[in-house]
Amino acid sequence: MRDVLEQIRERATEEIKKAGGMEELNQVRVKFLGKKGDLTQVLRGMGQLSPEERPVVGQLANRVRDHIESRLDLRREELCRAERNARLAAEVLDVTLPGKPVIMGRNHPLTQVVNQIKEIFTGMGYTIAEGPEIELDYYNFEALNLPKDHPARDMQDSFYITDEMLLRTHTSPVQVRTMEKMVPELPIRIICPGKVYRRDDDATHSPMFHQVEGLLVDERVTLADLKGTLLAFARQMFGEDRQIRLRPSYFPFTEPSAEVDISCIMCGGTGCRVCGGSGWLEILGCGMVHPRVLENVGYDPQKVSGFAFGMGVERITMLKYGIDDLRLLFENDVRFLSQF
Ligand code: PHE
Repeated sequence: MRDVLEQIRERATEEIKKAGGMEELNQVRVKFLGKKGDLTQVLRGMGQLSPEERPVVGQLANRVRDHIESRLDLRREELCRAERNARLAAEVLDVTLPGKPVIMGRNHPLTQVVNQIKEIFTGMGYTIAEGPEIELDYYNFEALNLPKDHPARDMQDSFYITDEMLLRTHTSPVQVRTMEKMVPELPIRIICPGKVYRRDDDATHSPMFHQVEGLLVDERVTLADLKGTLLAFARQMFGEDRQIRLRPSYFPFTEPSAEVDISCIMCGGTGCRVCGGSGWLEILGCGMVHPRVLENVGYDPQKVSGFAFGMGVERITMLKYGIDDLRLLFENDVRFLSQF
């Protein structure tokens, strides 16, 4: 009996050592310690031993079982470690490789300029207003003193949806919508940035472009207020040494009306290629809100006055950055856009 146990111990030790994987090791365990395992068989046969021999053999059998179990444990750990090491070696990660660069996005130059315009005017106490891009003829033209037969419509007459509805040709309808909402309250101080649409398409015009409208209505508003406001804007946008000039112009919804120029940002006013030798660059249209427009929305033009202006964001952007073709702003070529 002792010999048999001794033999089992030796064979088990040997086979455990040779087991090359978890599966194999498990088979060795079953073979010796399982229900029909070699050691189990021996323990079953103990009944046939004499009462003196039984405890002695029993003790020995227990020791052999403990021995096999502890060897199994050791081998299991060994195999685990080996498996993990093999996996670590196979899944090796080179942390010294250069990373993939993350390309930072940024705002489109037009968005940057709109944001800057907003900042300048909110700094002067203006709030931001918005209006629909699909607009009623009434707000786009009629209420702005442009009746159906008015010749000034020709420049803008564009994308009609029905006889009474069109894609807005300027942001000026938001003047009317805002005053309608506010009347009789004062003061009104808003700017309205947004998309507008016209039947134009060349190097300096596109069928869709952006404008920012400005409107201030209060008591005793004068042309001097308008000029001061626009000078402050021009200097913040184009540099503190800018001058502005107002040239008489015509818009049906302002009276008097003016075109505003800034002193050329290239030559400072002496005349160069950029300003065509004149020393001035046109940036926007403006004027004192026409009494009839005030009347249309319910203000008394005897008591209330205001000024309005409208600028093209593309034009401002092109002047600010010296861009000579408007279409670059819409092609979305990152080589162009990443410069801003
Ligand atoms: N709406 C005019 C345009 O698009 C610009 C403008 C706005 C002029 C406000 C005067 C006052 O040309």
